[in-house]
Amino acid sequence: YGIQIQKHVLLNYINMINDLELYNLYIYSGYRSYERQAEIYNNAADKNYVAKEGTSEHHSGLVLDVSTLTDGLTSSFQYSYEYQMLSKYCMNYGFIIRYPENKENITGYYFEPWHLRFVGEVSAKYIMNNSLTLEEYLFKNFEL
Ligand code: DAL
Ligand code: ZN
Repeated sequence: YGIQIQKHVLLNYINMINDLELYNLYIYSGYRSYERQAEIYNNAADKNYVAKEGTSEHHSGLVLDVSTLTDGLTSSFQYSYEYQMLSKYCMNYGFIIRYPENKENITGYYFEPWHLRFVGEVSAKYIMNNSLTLEEYLFKNFEL
């Protein structure tokens, strides 16, 4: 058993944790296989928080679910000091809050304060500083 993630994502995450001194953050999830996502999806009580297998960003190895040990993957994490710091500074390390509050109609998922998606520093800063979602950013800046 172990959590897997792309190496450059881990290196950026480690820099972030060290700089911000977020030593109480815990990594709950990273890369997930199709089979693992299917298991999670099929057992999920609330599917507004879980992607169907084959459609999850967790398949990419570019996502980390992080929280404190006391909050775990619950919405109470949004009120923690750790989340405050992440939402303020994560873009400097290439991460975005991928499923923000009040964007449920755009992302298709409820607010997930724990789900960090690596997109690189340039895109992350643009997205977070303009309160965008990845969907809005891609639609604005790239031909789809
Ligand atoms: N929690 C996100 C939506 C996923 O399952 O990929
Ligand atoms: Zn996630």
